[in-house]
Formats: sequence, C-alpha cells, structure tokens
Amino acid sequence: MIGRVIWRFPEVGSTQSVAFRLAELGAAHGTVIRADHQTAGRGRQGRAWESAPNSALMFSVILRPAFPLHELGGISILVGDLLAQTIDEISHETVHIKWPNDVLIDAQKVSGILLQTRSGPNAVAVLGIGINIESQTKEHRAGATFLNRHAIHPIDAETLFPIILKRIDTIWRDLQPELTPVQVERIESRMWLMGESVSIIDADREVQGTITGIAKNGGLRLSVDGSERVVVAGEIVRGPRPITEPNVN
Ligand code: BTN
Repeated sequence: MIGRVIWRFPEVGSTQSVAFRLAELGAAHGTVIRADHQTAGRGRQGRAWESAPNSALMFSVILRPAFPLHELGGISILVGDLLAQTIDEISHETVHIKWPNDVLIDAQKVSGILLQTRSGPNAVAVLGIGINIESQTKEHRAGATFLNRHAIHPIDAETLFPIILKRIDTIWRDLQPELTPVQVERIESRMWLMGESVSIIDADREVQGTITGIAKNGGLRLSVDGSERVVVAGEIVRGPRPITEPNVN
C-alpha cells in the first residue's frame, strides 16, 4: 500500500535521492519520503525545484512494479491528472495539465512530477511530487503560482497529503500497461494548449506541430505537416519558435 511507511524529514537535499538510497537498503514498495524543505530539489529535464521551507508539499514514493519498468509509462500523467482533479476541487480557477505532467492554474505552474527509474535485478521507480501551497519569498517567480492564492478555502499540506496518497494508491492498483480510452478522454479535456500550435523541445531536438491529444502510452500526439506523430519526452513551448536569422553585414 502506498504510504503505509512514511519517513518525514525537516530538511533533505532531495527526497528523490533519499528514496533511492532507502530503496537500495530494501525499503518496501509504497514507502514515502516527505520533507519540509529541500536544499537540492530536482525537477524534470535537469532543472532545480526550489521552494521556501514549509511552503510546499514535497514527497517521493518508492514503486517496485511487478512488471517491466517501460509499462509504467502512463503513471506520471495519471498522477498529474489526479493532482489536477484534486487541485480543481480546491481552486476557484481553471486547472490544466501541461503535458507531460505539470499542473497549471491560470496558466501558471502549481505542481510538478518527476518520475525516475533504476533498472536491474531490483528495478525501482521513484515518483516525486511537489505542490506549491503557500506563497514563497519569491513566489512571483516567472510562470509559478501557489495553491492558496486560488483556493476557495485555504488548505494545508497536512490535509492534502493523505488525500493524495490514497488517490495514488488507487491509481497504482488499477494501473494498466496503457491508458484506457476513458482516462485519455479525461486527460485531454484538461490539456493545456489542446489544438494549438506548439514546439516541443527535448535537449537539442525540436518538433513543431499542433497538439491533437494524448497517446495510450502517455505520449503527446501532434499533427506535424498533416501526419500524426507521438512524442514521448520534451517540454512544450507555445507557438512555433521564430527561426533566428543569421547576421548579414
Ligand atoms: C518538475 O516540475 O520539473 C518536477 C518537480 C518535482 C519536484 C518534487 S519535490 C519532491 C521530489 N523531490 C525532488 O527533488 N523533486 C521532486
């Protein structure tokens, strides 16, 4: 069960690192590591995740799937969807999922997910979740917001934490190798920039197209020059990126 064992720390570098260390030492599936502050919080694509002490709900869940790690594909967007649903119940503004799994309120990021895996004989995955709940010292960091800025009634991390753990547990129990049509439809109904022209940036690669939906493996479906393409990693940037003209003197 997710959350049967919970380790809580006032401060760690990253709950992801602590989770992998505990997993190496044999921690059971579903063990949760939570911190009130991270000094080296990690985000997707090598970015940092920074939150002032006690301003965010931050935790990592150790997952030991009884199936191959590549079949975990859909879990991060399903968890993104569950966070979006939960946040929607609290917020008075529209909540969107920005593929692959960010949650946005009013086009600003309120929550992010980091899924990391280690293969081998004791394959393990660690699912890290961060939700900005209170204002941070620099809360107006570009593109970020916090839940209580949009909440109908303010909520605290202690109330939210068990609700989210229970919902992750349900997702885990029902997890299939591919998303079901009902899940795809629900996620697409919340998708940020659905039907819009975007660029997907992944390291030094870039694809431009129009978002048409979510694939069964959790990838993003794009229409590119009239044919459909599915991208499985990257960052959405709104609109086609301008081509930089070379300097001509
Ligand atoms: C992202 O949006 O890029 C993902 C952010 C994930 C942040 C969480 S906070 C708890 C866990 N520990 C980390 O170091 N990162 C994740």
